[in-house]
Amino acid sequence: MSVDPDKMDILPRPELFDFHGVSMTHVYTVNWENIQNFQARPDDILIATFPKAGTTWVSYILDLLHFGQTSPEHQTSIPIYQRVPFLEMTLSSAYIGVDLANNLATSPRLIKTHLPVQFVPKSFWEQNCKVVYVARNAKDNMVSYFHFERMSQFQPETGDWSSYLQRFMKGKMVFGPWYDHVNGWWKKKQAYSNLHYMFYEDMVEDTGREIDKLCSFLGLSPSVEEKKQITGGVQFDNMKKNDMVNYSTAPVMDFKISPFMRKGKVGDWKNHFTVAQNEEFDEDYKKKMKDPSLQFRTVI
Ligand code: PPS
Repeated sequence: MSVDPDKMDILPRPELFDFHGVSMTHVYTVNWENIQNFQARPDDILIATFPKAGTTWVSYILDLLHFGQTSPEHQTSIPIYQRVPFLEMTLSSAYIGVDLANNLATSPRLIKTHLPVQFVPKSFWEQNCKVVYVARNAKDNMVSYFHFERMSQFQPETGDWSSYLQRFMKGKMVFGPWYDHVNGWWKKKQAYSNLHYMFYEDMVEDTGREIDKLCSFLGLSPSVEEKKQITGGVQFDNMKKNDMVNYSTAPVMDFKISPFMRKGKVGDWKNHFTVAQNEEFDEDYKKKMKDPSLQFRTVI
């Protein structure tokens, strides 16, 4: 998505296949060797998430914190998916995440990934890079992913809601099971101190507080005025209107089906799950989420 529509040859929608035990599509594996050999720099910041957990939100916050004052012109001219390259995405020659990351002229470089922790290029760990992981409760995360798949040509066929729910529980999602993703990164945090693990629900509850925590992790001290500007600029309604962060410039997404900035809420799952589906999901969830130290909120 740098994104040249003439260079795209991704139709029909890609098939899911097993890739080292994780469901993936060729969009994220075709350039695997270059992804794995990516050379991180010590000041790179990796923004890691399961898809639809708040990646764009946190990417924009980090971009504003680092470059909002020094390169304000970028905010109105370069889409977020170029300012914060999506490392493992390769959409033919239209968007090659590794190349975009390698060519980033900024310092630090902000880099996005949805990779489960075991797939992250080892140079990020060797260089002791800062990592921000954002997690979102499974139910809202799934609802958001469902609508995103419907509108994204580069995602697998979505199917109907009830089959999607079964697929999610089985972990047959691009980037694998949500359960393994959030748990894998949570465990990594215990061993790797340069990882800030945050929750979408906390951001919705109090964006300013979460930005303060991010600043303390990143060693930044924005002025009161700057922080006020950032907190306002990253509110859902403002991001939805902002063409440089709302993905309206990405031709691979059909906003007539669903917008990228869709609802931005905690609890939209209640509009999707039937009572029976919710019970089945909760039952299955208890079996998979055994670590009492990792807790999610489905309402705030
Ligand atoms: S992606 O494609 O994985 O990078 O998507 P990602 O950015 O992780 O997630 C998109 C969802 O995040 C919501 N979003 C926000 N919510 C609240 N406030 C702000 N500022 C915000 N920005 C993005 C976006 O609306 C998607 O969630 P849903 O539930 O679909 O609305």
